Amino acid sequence: MSKLQVQVSKQPKMHSSVNKPTDRLNRPLRDLRISVTDRCNFRCIYCMPKSLFGPDHAFLERAQILSFEEIERAVNVFAQLGVTKIRITGGEPLIRKDLRILIEKIHSVKGIDDISLTTNGALLNEKKAKSLIDAGLNRITLSLDALEDECFKKINDVQFSVAKVLEAVEIAKQAGLSPVKVNMVVINHVNVNQILPMVEYFRNRNVILRFIEFMDVGTTNKWQYEKVFDARSIIGLIQKHYAIEPVDANYKGEVAKRWRYKDGAGEIGIIASVTQPFCTSCHRARLSAEGKLYTCLFASGGYNLRDLLRKENNNRQVLEIISRLWQQRDDRYSQLRGESQSSQQKVEMSYIGG
Ligand code: GTP
Ligand code: 5AD
Ligand code: SF4
Ligand code: SF4
Repeated sequence: MSKLQVQVSKQPKMHSSVNKPTDRLNRPLRDLRISVTDRCNFRCIYCMPKSLFGPDHAFLERAQILSFEEIERAVNVFAQLGVTKIRITGGEPLIRKDLRILIEKIHSVKGIDDISLTTNGALLNEKKAKSLIDAGLNRITLSLDALEDECFKKINDVQFSVAKVLEAVEIAKQAGLSPVKVNMVVINHVNVNQILPMVEYFRNRNVILRFIEFMDVGTTNKWQYEKVFDARSIIGLIQKHYAIEPVDANYKGEVAKRWRYKDGAGEIGIIASVTQPFCTSCHRARLSAEGKLYTCLFASGGYNLRDLLRKENNNRQVLEIISRLWQQRDDRYSQLRGESQSSQQKVEMSYIGG
């Protein structure tokens, strides 16, 4: 049976309590990452290069995108299957109108105890931060790949300045989002020289700076192994200037490896999905803006949950299908990378949300 075909019993059993599924590698389902739009106001060269995401690019139409009510329904079902953490992503999620309403809806779902947002910060202001927190947002992660304007503008390709992202970081902190994290994707020969300036800036600022190895997501970012500046090199570089030591993970399956400055200046994280894959503890499912469900960031296809939600009023049926889909899952792309380089089409990061 193909992965995306799910056999459903005609008469699903009606349990009052639901068995939490585990996949073929015995991994439970804990996190759901929801992309709320495939659009973005940046054109990062490694994610949405202008050559492919130009003025004529066909983004999803409104009717193709899941409504807040549909997302809420899906979250309800996922919560019954074991999901406790939700991350809202995009594209750029703050482009989606009235996002606060969605957060309110998700916040009201029983079992969801952590709601976070990944954003480039361009559309964050004090009022918006406050309204998102009031709606139930717990945490925020901002993306910033350089501290110098010239380098950052070369990466975002829309002339967006570093100062505005730093302002958004401050707004998030002042609004009470804690901890605030900043993600920096490190690409060899592009922004390696920004690692130390970023470290120096965010030390002592109560922000967790995380370095992400450049990944081969999608097919548009011209990824080559040579462009990866690996976790060991990042740590090696930082250690030449600052005394740091490893810290235990906050929870099983945490993606970032934590390190702290011995002088008490705070903490950093390394996300080494290329050189130190973390598939064995991957509890994440991803829902695209269009309502496709992916069991791996590197999947080539997703299950059309939108069509199911639109034709099936019975949540129990939806639950059975997602549960079976999860039980069939055997994804571990990052671990297999290198063993079998596949040439198949992979979904783009801007579509699935990272
Ligand atoms: P918390 O620990 O809950 O704060 O979140 P997180 O670190 O999982 O979330 P975040 O969205 O900040 O993840 C950071 C980056 O790690 C993502 O943007 C991806 O680049 C990468 N990442 C997250 N999850 C996965 C995954 O399942 N597989 C791979 N290969 N990379 C991932
Ligand atoms: N490799 C690693 N991280 C990436 N991101 C986007 N594309 C890639 C890639 N190819 C990051 C963004 C953002 C998060 C959603 O994922 O910079 O921080
Ligand atoms: Fe937009 Fe984030 Fe992709 Fe940059 S990395 S283009 S900010 S979605
Ligand atoms: Fe999970 Fe796939 Fe990433 Fe492995 S490669 S950690 S299975 S999303």
